[in-house]
Amino acid sequence: MKIVLPSALSDWVKTNRDLDHQELVREQFFAHFPGFEAQYTLHCSDRILINLLRTKLSQNEEIMPIINQHIGPALQYYWSDSKAWHFLDWENDTTGIISRAAASIFVGPEKATDPEWQNIVQSYVREFFAAAGELSGWKVPLRPIVQWVLPHASACRDLRRQACNVMENVVQRRIQEAKAAEAQGAAVPQYNDVVDWTMQISENNHSAGDIQLALAMAALFTTSEIFRQILIDIARHSELLEPLRQEIKKALADHDLGLAALAKMELLDSVMKESQRQIPISVGLERKVIRETSLPNGTILPKGSHIMVDSSDMWNPNIHENPEVFDGYRFMKRRHAGDKSSQFVQSSQGHNVFGGGRHICPGRFFATTELKLCLVHILFKYDFRLESGYSSSPVQSGVYAAVDPKVRLEIRRREGPEDCPL
Ligand code: HEM
Repeated sequence: MKIVLPSALSDWVKTNRDLDHQELVREQFFAHFPGFEAQYTLHCSDRILINLLRTKLSQNEEIMPIINQHIGPALQYYWSDSKAWHFLDWENDTTGIISRAAASIFVGPEKATDPEWQNIVQSYVREFFAAAGELSGWKVPLRPIVQWVLPHASACRDLRRQACNVMENVVQRRIQEAKAAEAQGAAVPQYNDVVDWTMQISENNHSAGDIQLALAMAALFTTSEIFRQILIDIARHSELLEPLRQEIKKALADHDLGLAALAKMELLDSVMKESQRQIPISVGLERKVIRETSLPNGTILPKGSHIMVDSSDMWNPNIHENPEVFDGYRFMKRRHAGDKSSQFVQSSQGHNVFGGGRHICPGRFFATTELKLCLVHILFKYDFRLESGYSSSPVQSGVYAAVDPKVRLEIRRREGPEDCPL
């Protein structure tokens, strides 16, 4: 049972300390069951991972060249260099790019390109969400029993064990490597990734495997979904291709690869945000009431209840002119007109895709960087189009929505000289 509040209460929800996001997620996604430890790690009250994402992963220019280096090989692996038109294996070849780009910073050089590791994390995310759905179908008192035999929950336990083993080896190897370097008076190898950052936090009690799975869970599906929608929208609006390429070329000619160059990609940013509007989620800002509280009009929200906030402002004609039309320039125009919340990374009362308040998504800067870098490579290296006559639309599932899972997207490596500015 969910209580849906109007969007006018969005700021009230964001600032109310009697409402909590983490407790909601821990409860809704069974963080206390074996195999689901990563969910506990992600939403743990110690906030170790969240603080790390805020301090190390957000707006960190040093990680950009590392992500960038991984995108080219990932595209060759999943999208190929073939100059003949061919169809993408939609879910696999889109999730794969995002997963490998993210892994360059999450897991680091030893495992980022390892197909076996990629298989573990991607499978875990799939199994985890399937397990959550599977368990929700059972009555609450039976869940602690049936989770031992349900297929997706069992797969989670198995994959988690594998992930923890792999990561324990990575951590041990790094410790040995550092010891050997110190013994020889040599410089200790330096890493710029989550494995290294978490090894430096003395109070961290989460296993390296759970940390990796937690990151994959938060980052993989969310970023891959919007990536897929952006590809669909650009394929449908090929008139955007040249302006996008021109803007990117100029941004990278005026600035080195870094935050300033990405900030100059305003049209790309606007297209990305407009693509978020194409996924018709009905609600955002989900919270659990941890102490009884009252709405501004005096209505009591009982302790333990779950609330959501209506997202329909994203398609409200009083807010967006022709809201049903895809306009890649929409948010760029708003930005130039002085709207301070029109960037992809920003959250506002009318556009809560990254949530808000103290729980606002701490990975949104990273997601923006990753998406922009992937799209730069793709826009310069590939032609892409929807299968002739194919009309794509999202799939609605209750209050949630998913990008069309069956898209027929054709790609080919572009002809002519290599002009990718990255
Ligand atoms: C486009 C991609 C993404 C979307 C749309 C998204 C969306 C969200 C949303 C809606 C929330 C809940 C915020 C709230 O209710 O106030 C959230 C929380 C969170 N996200 Fe993201 N996210 C994305 C990418 C990422 C990435 C790449 C990471 C990690 C690197 C990440 C890590 C997290 C974490 C740790 C939280 C929990 C924050 C808390 O409970 O305080 N997300 N995200």
